[in-house]
Amino acid sequence: MAVYTLSPAPARLELVVKHMFNHVMQAEAGIYEGGASLAQIEHLRDVARRSGSTWIAEIGFNVGYSTIGFLESSPEARVVSFELDLRPCVKLAKEFIDERYPGRHELVVGDSQVTVPEFAEACRAGSQGFDLVFIDGSHMYDVAANDIRNSARIAAQQATVVVDDLTPWYLWGAGPTRAWQEAVDSERIEALEYVVDGRIVDRIEGPADRAWAVGRFR
Ligand SMILES: C[S@@+](CC[C@H](N)C(=O)[O-])C[C@H]1O[C@@H](n2cnc3c(N)ncnc32)[C@H](O)[C@@H]1O
Repeated sequence: MAVYTLSPAPARLELVVKHMFNHVMQAEAGIYEGGASLAQIEHLRDVARRSGSTWIAEIGFNVGYSTIGFLESSPEARVVSFELDLRPCVKLAKEFIDERYPGRHELVVGDSQVTVPEFAEACRAGSQGFDLVFIDGSHMYDVAANDIRNSARIAAQQATVVVDDLTPWYLWGAGPTRAWQEAVDSERIEALEYVVDGRIVDRIEGPADRAWAVGRFR
């Protein structure tokens, strides 16, 4: 008698990400940039949960994988995503998010170096700062450094901050790594946790595909 081993059913998060992927791919729009891995999406969801964050901002939306992680963290979670442009995959991903999580997501289109300070100015008029900010936009050093600095202006006091792409051995990781390190060295961010390929580590070292960090704005 043949014995078959069934793989475990995919978890809810994995299914939602798969549905998003299919939604974007069916329209043959193509995906222009990378996105969070499943391990990272789960970690982002868990960081939001354990920090009690329900008002969340992210720089870099692309096809919304990280957005799914945050919106799955709790039914109260709401997300504002800052994204450079409204290319077809972004439009489709936004459509999917709005259908699945109605009224819980806002997309701000434009260069984050302009839109985040504008948002900060608007916030001064009354709305509360974000509990958590995820920085995953441009990989250029100058922009990543500006994103960290400007994010502090839209964040609540001692808000959680997550910075992606701390992989200096890859071309796209050098800028975010330098920007993160400068923010830690100048005591604008307190480093709390480093994650490499989904494992929590004491410090980031290659080789690895993905690395990111969790901190707190001081
Ligand atoms: C790695 S993707 C984001 C992935 C997304 N956070 C996820 O996990 O699925 C980076 C995104 O940042 C956007 N981006 C690049 N430069 C930007 C800028 N100056 N302002 C806003 N968004 C920017 C890109 O268009 C791209 O969609």
